[in-house]
Amino acid sequence: MSKRQTHRIIVSAAALAGLTLSATVFAAQPVGPDLTEKLRGLLVKEMVEVEAAMQETYSAIIQGRHDEVAQKGQAIHDSFILEQSLTEQDRQDLKAAVPEAFLQMDTRFHQLAASLAEAGKQQNTQAQVNTFNRMTESCVACHSRYVTDRFEGLEEQSFSEAWGNNAGEERPE
Ligand code: HEC
Repeated sequence: MSKRQTHRIIVSAAALAGLTLSATVFAAQPVGPDLTEKLRGLLVKEMVEVEAAMQETYSAIIQGRHDEVAQKGQAIHDSFILEQSLTEQDRQDLKAAVPEAFLQMDTRFHQLAASLAEAGKQQNTQAQVNTFNRMTESCVACHSRYVTDRFEGLEEQSFSEAWGNNAGEERPE
């Protein structure tokens, strides 16, 4: 085998290893089925409320109802599953069932909700629109990774890895 061929084989092996690695890191891992019935019930309830609050926020933003934006942002923030009255056992069950990255995404999402409330208080429409968009990215990022058992249409979508992962950071528009 020539030196050149050997080199080529090593390069393809490395590329293959890289592919396998990224597939492992970004593989979809549905979390719902691993939750206890109680936790899953709480999460679904939270999600339904969050979606309704997002739709109301949209109407409020585009019509300049700043107080309502602030109030909805706060409500979404407070719906945080970990903030609810979970028993110590529930907390342990949750942590055992979901990957750390899921909890981090949830935390970032709720930080964004706090930013939305702030943008409402400041009557800053530009910041409200930016934050609302970041929140939508966050929904899609989490669902495309952890809810593919239910939202098949989000499987194998490609979008920025930053989605759902950069709350609080300024991004060029
Ligand atoms: C950190 C992860 C995460 C984020 C962020 C997230 N979701 Fe979800 N969402 C889930 C999971 C997990 C489920 C599936 C729950 C189940 O079926 O067990 C779900 C399910 C849902 C559902 C279906 C509820 C039902 O009727 O069963 C809706 C609607 C929803 N999410 C809306 C939203 C919206 C809107 C956002 C953003 C504003 C959002 N979600 C952000 C994790 C997330």
